[in-house]
Order: sequence, then structure tokens, then C-alpha cells
Amino acid sequence: MNHISAVKISDHVYWVGAIDWSVRDFHGYDTSRGTTYNAYLVTGSKNILIDTVKRDYVDELISRVQSVIPLDKIDYIISNHAEPDHSGSLDIMIEKIKPEKVFASKMGVKALAEHFLWEHDITAVDDGSEIELGGLKFRFYETRMLHWPDSMFTFLVDDNLLFSQDAFGMHLASSERFADECEWPILEYESAKYFANILLPYAPLIGKLVTKIGELGLNPAVVAPDHGPIWRGDDIGKIINLYLRWTKQEMTSKVVIIYDTMWGATKKMAQSMADTFAAAGHYVKVLPLKGVHRSNVITEILEAGAVIIGSPTLNNNLFPTLADVLTYCRGLKPKNLIGAAFGSYGWSGEGVPQVKTIMEEMGIEFIGSCKAKYGPSEKDIECCRDLARQVSEVLKEKIANKTN
Ligand code: FEO
Repeated sequence: MNHISAVKISDHVYWVGAIDWSVRDFHGYDTSRGTTYNAYLVTGSKNILIDTVKRDYVDELISRVQSVIPLDKIDYIISNHAEPDHSGSLDIMIEKIKPEKVFASKMGVKALAEHFLWEHDITAVDDGSEIELGGLKFRFYETRMLHWPDSMFTFLVDDNLLFSQDAFGMHLASSERFADECEWPILEYESAKYFANILLPYAPLIGKLVTKIGELGLNPAVVAPDHGPIWRGDDIGKIINLYLRWTKQEMTSKVVIIYDTMWGATKKMAQSMADTFAAAGHYVKVLPLKGVHRSNVITEILEAGAVIIGSPTLNNNLFPTLADVLTYCRGLKPKNLIGAAFGSYGWSGEGVPQVKTIMEEMGIEFIGSCKAKYGPSEKDIECCRDLARQVSEVLKEKIANKTN
């Protein structure tokens, strides 16, 4: 008897994934709400498994499959993505099931062999190709760099259902399987966080891929991602529109102030800047790095217009927490931002210029900086207020020029 069951999500498809309530780190991403590794079972005269789960969760996958059919009744496996949270138990499933064929994209065949160092026979499917398995039609679309070179969508024509692998997913463990059973603000935040932390470097490409879904005439009734809840009904249009917005990264009047502090001086500078921005009518988010994870920082930056960074100087360097966050954010390549830097120091003061260098490397238009020797003195605070007013003016002007 199986202790956990599959959930039917369309005429031929069951969700057979795993719920990971406990994961809190996903290669550097703070998964504070856990996640799911979604896998799907397509049933008919032939049975097809779509993706697998993280290796530690293979028993959960097997149990859910067996609540529908015996494992050896699976005829085919389709692997949409080679990352181990979806393919980490693929070899176990191949060995147990002995399927007639396993399908992946061309790059997927390569990635699976290279990543897992095994030699299972995987059949490559072409971009745009269609195959019939047990009377059901499956169409494949390469989605290179969404977010790995091997990534692929599978479209089940008969159920008008798109298996979208990581796209439109989020790290959210829940007992509900459909997005329309969950709270929208949580879905929007976790989707934005996923986009910012996983997909942002490829935003222009993703914009084209999302547009391509419409151009191909796909109008799926269900979008089944590899993480988090499944989309159906009006929610599909809502998540697609959010993706189109995030891919554009348009400048907004939101200001994000990120800082750390040793003895409170840089904190006072942050407070004075936040106060000045708020008085100028900006939506301001202040992120003290003691207690704010890097993955939440980039989530706040996703829809910002200005990023202001405060770092003390420690041992001739910017503060280590800032180095961590800036390294992380630099890799994710946020666009269309202006910025400034500030910070206190005792005798050498390298922190602020080092922040400036990294911000410029990130393509952030740098407006200016304020440094306080110990302090901050009234003059230092006035420097911060002047700098905030200057950033505010530039930001408002850029937004006005964009909308006129
Ligand atoms: Fe959820 Fe790219 O793996």
C-alpha cells in the first residue's frame, strides 16, 4: 500500500512529484518556504513519466506513481531538464522501469551523460518535433538557457497542457497543487524571487521565448512547471504577463538601500538617505544585511530603479557581507538601474570606492558617493541627504523621459 498518492491534474495527467518542506538552501538561494520537485505521469494505452525528482525523494515519486499504476507499466520517460533536482533520480527510474525509450533535447542527451557520468541510451528530440505515444501527441520545444542549455518544454496536445520545467515555477512547498488554491501575494512574491534568482541573467532570451509561446499559437489550459503550484485558467495569463514585465526590467521609482554596519555609523547614513528618498515620494526598501539573505536582496532589486549601497571599510576592504551580495547580484545581471554608495571608515576608506567599482562593472549608472570618517558628522549626513536628492532627481527624470 502506498502511503502517499498522485493527484490527477487533467484528463491523462497525474502529478507524481515530491514535496520538500525542509529545504532552506538551493545552491545559494534561501528557500524559506521549501519547494516541490514536480514530476508527472501521463496515462493511456502507453504510460509516460515526465521528469523525475531530486535523488533523496525518489521513494516519494515511486509511491505516487504506484498509487496509479505499477512502476513497470511505464513505457517512456521524457526528461525536460538535466539539473539534478529533476534528473537526479532518472538513472534509478530507468533501471527500475526499463522503459522502451527515454527522450530529451539534443543538449539534454549531452548534459545528462556529462553530468551523471552514466551511459543510458537517451533519444534526442528536435525542436518543434512531435511524436505520438499511445495515441497521445507530444510536441517538444527547445528553451535553451531557460535556464540551462538543455532545457525543453513538452506540450501534451491532447490535454492542451504545457510541461514548462523550471519556467513559471517557484520554490514553494504546499499541500495545494494548483495556484488558484494558494494566496496570490505569496505566489507573486515567490515567482518574482525565482525569476530574480534563477532566470534574470537570461531575461532578454526569456522575453523572446514567452512571446514565442503566443506566436506558436499555444494557448495551454494548464501550465505544469517543475517547482511549485500548477497554473490553470486566468492565472496562466497573469503569470505570463508578470514574466513579460520582469523580462523588460523597466526602471521604477522604487529605491533599494542595502547596507551593513560595524558600529552604527553606516546605519545612520542609510537612515538619512531612506528618510530623504521617502520625503521625495519614493517607495523605499531598506535591507540591513544582518538578517536579509542575498536572494531576497536581488528579489527587491528586480523591480527597482535605484540601488544605494552602504559599506563600512574592514581591513582595507568593503565589508564581507556586501562582497557576498554584490558578487551574487553581479552574476544575475540586473539591468536599468542607477546607483550610489556610502559608508563609514576609520583610517583607509577603501569600502566605498570598491563598491563603486563593482556597481560600475554591473552596468549600474553611478551617481555619486559619500564617505564618513568615523562619525557620521552633520556634514556627512548632509552629504547623504544631498546624494539622495540627486539620485531622486535623476531617477524621476529618466522615468519621465521614458513615459513621455
Ligand atoms: Fe529546478 Fe534548473 O532546476
